[in-house]
Amino acid sequence: MTLQSVVDELRERPGTGEVIPVIDPATEEQIAEFTDCGEDAVDDAVARARATFESGVWHGLPARERAKIMWRIADLMDQHVDELAELDSLNTGMPLVQAQNIMPTCAEFFRYYAGWCTKLDGAAYDVRMTGGITGAHASMHAYTIKEPFGVVGHIIPWNGPMMTACAKLAPALAAGCSNVLKPAEETPLSALLLVKLIAQAGVPDGVVNLLTGNGHTAGAALAAHPDVDKIAFTGSTEVGKQIVRAAAGNLKKVLLELGGKSPVLIYDDADLETAIKVAAGGIFVHSGQGCVCGSRIFVQRSVYDQVVDGVAQAANAAKLGGPKEKGSRIGPLISQKQLTRVMGFIDEGKRDGVEVVTGGHRLDRRGYFVHPTVLTNVDPAMRLYQQEIFGPVVTILPFDDDDEAVAMANDTTYGLAATVWTNNLSRAHRLAKRLESGTITLNCQLVFDHAVPFGGYKQSGWGLEYGREGIETYMQTKSVWTQL
Ligand code: NAI
Ligand code: MG
Repeated sequence: MTLQSVVDELRERPGTGEVIPVIDPATEEQIAEFTDCGEDAVDDAVARARATFESGVWHGLPARERAKIMWRIADLMDQHVDELAELDSLNTGMPLVQAQNIMPTCAEFFRYYAGWCTKLDGAAYDVRMTGGITGAHASMHAYTIKEPFGVVGHIIPWNGPMMTACAKLAPALAAGCSNVLKPAEETPLSALLLVKLIAQAGVPDGVVNLLTGNGHTAGAALAAHPDVDKIAFTGSTEVGKQIVRAAAGNLKKVLLELGGKSPVLIYDDADLETAIKVAAGGIFVHSGQGCVCGSRIFVQRSVYDQVVDGVAQAANAAKLGGPKEKGSRIGPLISQKQLTRVMGFIDEGKRDGVEVVTGGHRLDRRGYFVHPTVLTNVDPAMRLYQQEIFGPVVTILPFDDDDEAVAMANDTTYGLAATVWTNNLSRAHRLAKRLESGTITLNCQLVFDHAVPFGGYKQSGWGLEYGREGIETYMQTKSVWTQL
């Protein structure tokens, strides 16, 4: 699909609400527009999904057939990797090479979960009851069946449109669920092509339905819909809580992958050159618009100045630019709204006396670019220290010992990722136990594999994605008893 055909198709999609512009964040120019699909479209999409679930046209297929189709989705994605990468990079502003590197990983979600289709077995139990309700002794045979949840609504954000769409649709399809996908209103482009490839691969009509609309209209209606069995959401903690409230009506299950304020601990015995380089990349990549970005760095006092200097140098060396600008390594923020939000945190910090080691301003050019920013002299009570900024902004504070480092690292409502840089392996593993976080990375950052579970402690989420846990998220377990 060419960009023009995606733009045309998006414009033609029916809707009843406001006209939503799609903006290229690197130029601030409009690239497309569409009409908010509105609530009727949500009813239609859920009804289509429900009909396919009732008919069993997807979950009733032999598992090996579902697997073959999912494998085909991945192959088609590989064939269309350039178009998908172009759409995501244009729409998010991420460098084209970055989008091109991510696409094979997105496709691989379908292959990885294709493998699980044939392995979703329950267990059998040999039960001897002594004195049940009847008082009799009995031998029982019990077993479990793994069943798909039913109709799942996927609400995804703008920072990694294809990555989050595939991370949710692949396990949900493997589990046999029927689906409604709502991309973020900022980034609807790549989803149009993805749903086409899914249909082309042989997923029956109505099993994957696309909604192009706003969060407060289409997203909210999907979250509240009485005929949706589960919502899988990635986005802000604030909206995560709204979804939980909306889900209460029919007690639909909710998977939440929310924000973070991830700590990075750097000890003086670490390989400092690597630690500095990776920690800087771990916050400035994608202009800090990643849920696992390490936005709070803590450094053992003896090497504090060295690390602050090193991270500031990396911040200054980072080449910012639009997806197709030569040599650009980091893109803009997604929108004017996010630019205002991120600069709001920085300006407030300046007024409150933080030291801006480098950055602290937007770039003097078109596009929502913020200079990678290093802040010190930060008071833990400050909003910028407590809340997820989701921009290229890092605070760096010193610590003296493990207890102080752990206390500062855990002093957050979030718990998504935590990192330790040290060559003392015993200390690294001790800290892995003490840090309150769903993912711990030791002497590495931003690592990922389809097979390794990922989820948030505390207010960073509910439930797990990826791996075996990631498909069980889309299944429920039924227990069956028989008296022998
Ligand atoms: P958001 O949480 O509002 O948007 C994420 C998705 O939720 C979008 O598809 C949106 O349409 C939908 N949505 C919004 N309101 C909804 C509602 N009431 N019911 C159902 N769905 C709804 O995120 P936003 O406002 O774009 O970004 C604000 C902050 O959220 C960021 O600064 C960042 O801190 C955080 N965020 C975290 C992400 C992550 O990967 N954990 C991704 C995106 C944002
Ligand atoms: Mg929002």
